[in-house]
Amino acid sequence: MATDAGGPIPRFPAGFLWGVSTSAHQIEGAADRREPSVWDVFTAGPGRVRDGSTAAVACDHYHRHREDVALLAGLGVRAYRFSVSWPRVRSGDLGFYDRLVDDLCAAGVRPVPTLFHWDLPAGLDWRQRDTASRFAEYVSVVAGRLGDRVTKWITLNEPAEHTLLGHALGVHAPGERLLLDALPVAHHQLLAHGLAVRALRAHGATDIGIANSHGPTWPASREPADVAAAEFYDTLLNRLFADPLLLGRYPDGIVASLPGGAEADLEVLAEPVDWYGVNYYAPTRIGAPRGGRTGFGGVPLPAGLPFSVREIEDRPVTDSGWPVVPEGLTDLLTAFRDRYGDRLPPVVVTENGCSYGGLDDQDRIAYLDGHIRALHRAVEAGVDVRGYFVWSLLDNFEWAQGYTQRFGLVHVDFETLERTPKASYAWFREVLRAQG
Ligand code: BGC
Repeated sequence: MATDAGGPIPRFPAGFLWGVSTSAHQIEGAADRREPSVWDVFTAGPGRVRDGSTAAVACDHYHRHREDVALLAGLGVRAYRFSVSWPRVRSGDLGFYDRLVDDLCAAGVRPVPTLFHWDLPAGLDWRQRDTASRFAEYVSVVAGRLGDRVTKWITLNEPAEHTLLGHALGVHAPGERLLLDALPVAHHQLLAHGLAVRALRAHGATDIGIANSHGPTWPASREPADVAAAEFYDTLLNRLFADPLLLGRYPDGIVASLPGGAEADLEVLAEPVDWYGVNYYAPTRIGAPRGGRTGFGGVPLPAGLPFSVREIEDRPVTDSGWPVVPEGLTDLLTAFRDRYGDRLPPVVVTENGCSYGGLDDQDRIAYLDGHIRALHRAVEAGVDVRGYFVWSLLDNFEWAQGYTQRFGLVHVDFETLERTPKASYAWFREVLRAQG
């Protein structure tokens, strides 16, 4: 029985989908067997990744996926969220995903592919509207090949982070520093999402979602300047990527920064999804812009943004410095329900997890335990939550942090590529068992 000081984790509704998540660029390796992505180009530049590493080999999941499927089966998850590498599909290698999907089905684990998790083929650019159409064509190819076995799909992963970190601040690929001029990148990804939903439907898909990152925004104080800055940030993180999908309109004040004609696309953006995926890690404390160094996840922010990120000092932090705030998940989901009402489809938590080192990762267990309970409180409060996916199955290439942060339930030795389940793997297995 999964217990802690708080007793057993309460039962979730029947049919609740328990899973774990990964992404292609972070685990697959075999970079020599696919076209390059913007991340390959980005990491080749000096000083971009904390430990100077690349994802050329990563976890070598491409060659070791059978072992990883066995780990999933041993864990007892019902579903596995992975991503399909668009560059790999462009190089003609859909066979890898064929084998992966077959092996997952044989192991009784439901495949849940994400069609874009930041590894845009090099040479494509989200500033160009046409990229959305290219994406829909690629989605059609994947759906045509895997749609006989895959029934649950995710269009995009975190277009908010890809816009902010990759195109506004330049700390992720492709390394653009456009600040608020990055907003067309947001629109074109949302357009890509809508077109992908249509392409998937044309292939008969009936269970389609998106994985958007969200978290509560805490104003630094009650001063009007801090509150206004927090509202602006909240619009960027929590409304920009949700309002068009769920309400069919952009939040006030955004349209002026979008490409001309963006409003005419809203009908495509609002193509109904069957469920809404939320990736939750932590709240953000936001105040008015101020001089000096302000950070975003440890990254200094350039001047010129209408907000600054403040430390959340009164909470424990993970190895990546992110505060541990389980109740933020309850607050976020109930706020979503209140804001969107009947327009909010069933919710799935598509990512939640933390970076901690070591095999006896009791901190991760405490983090996950706290967040799963917080999720249950959202269910009790009437939010229709249908699933929860831990980020991540494996330690992996953690983007600009390289291999310095470990989010896995399974430890990976990046010299030998040996996998070793951590204490949290055994703990989560027991949680799943107890949930039936
Ligand atoms: C991303 C993952 C990433 C995780 C931890 C999420 O924003 O979807 O790819 O590894 O956070 O940083």
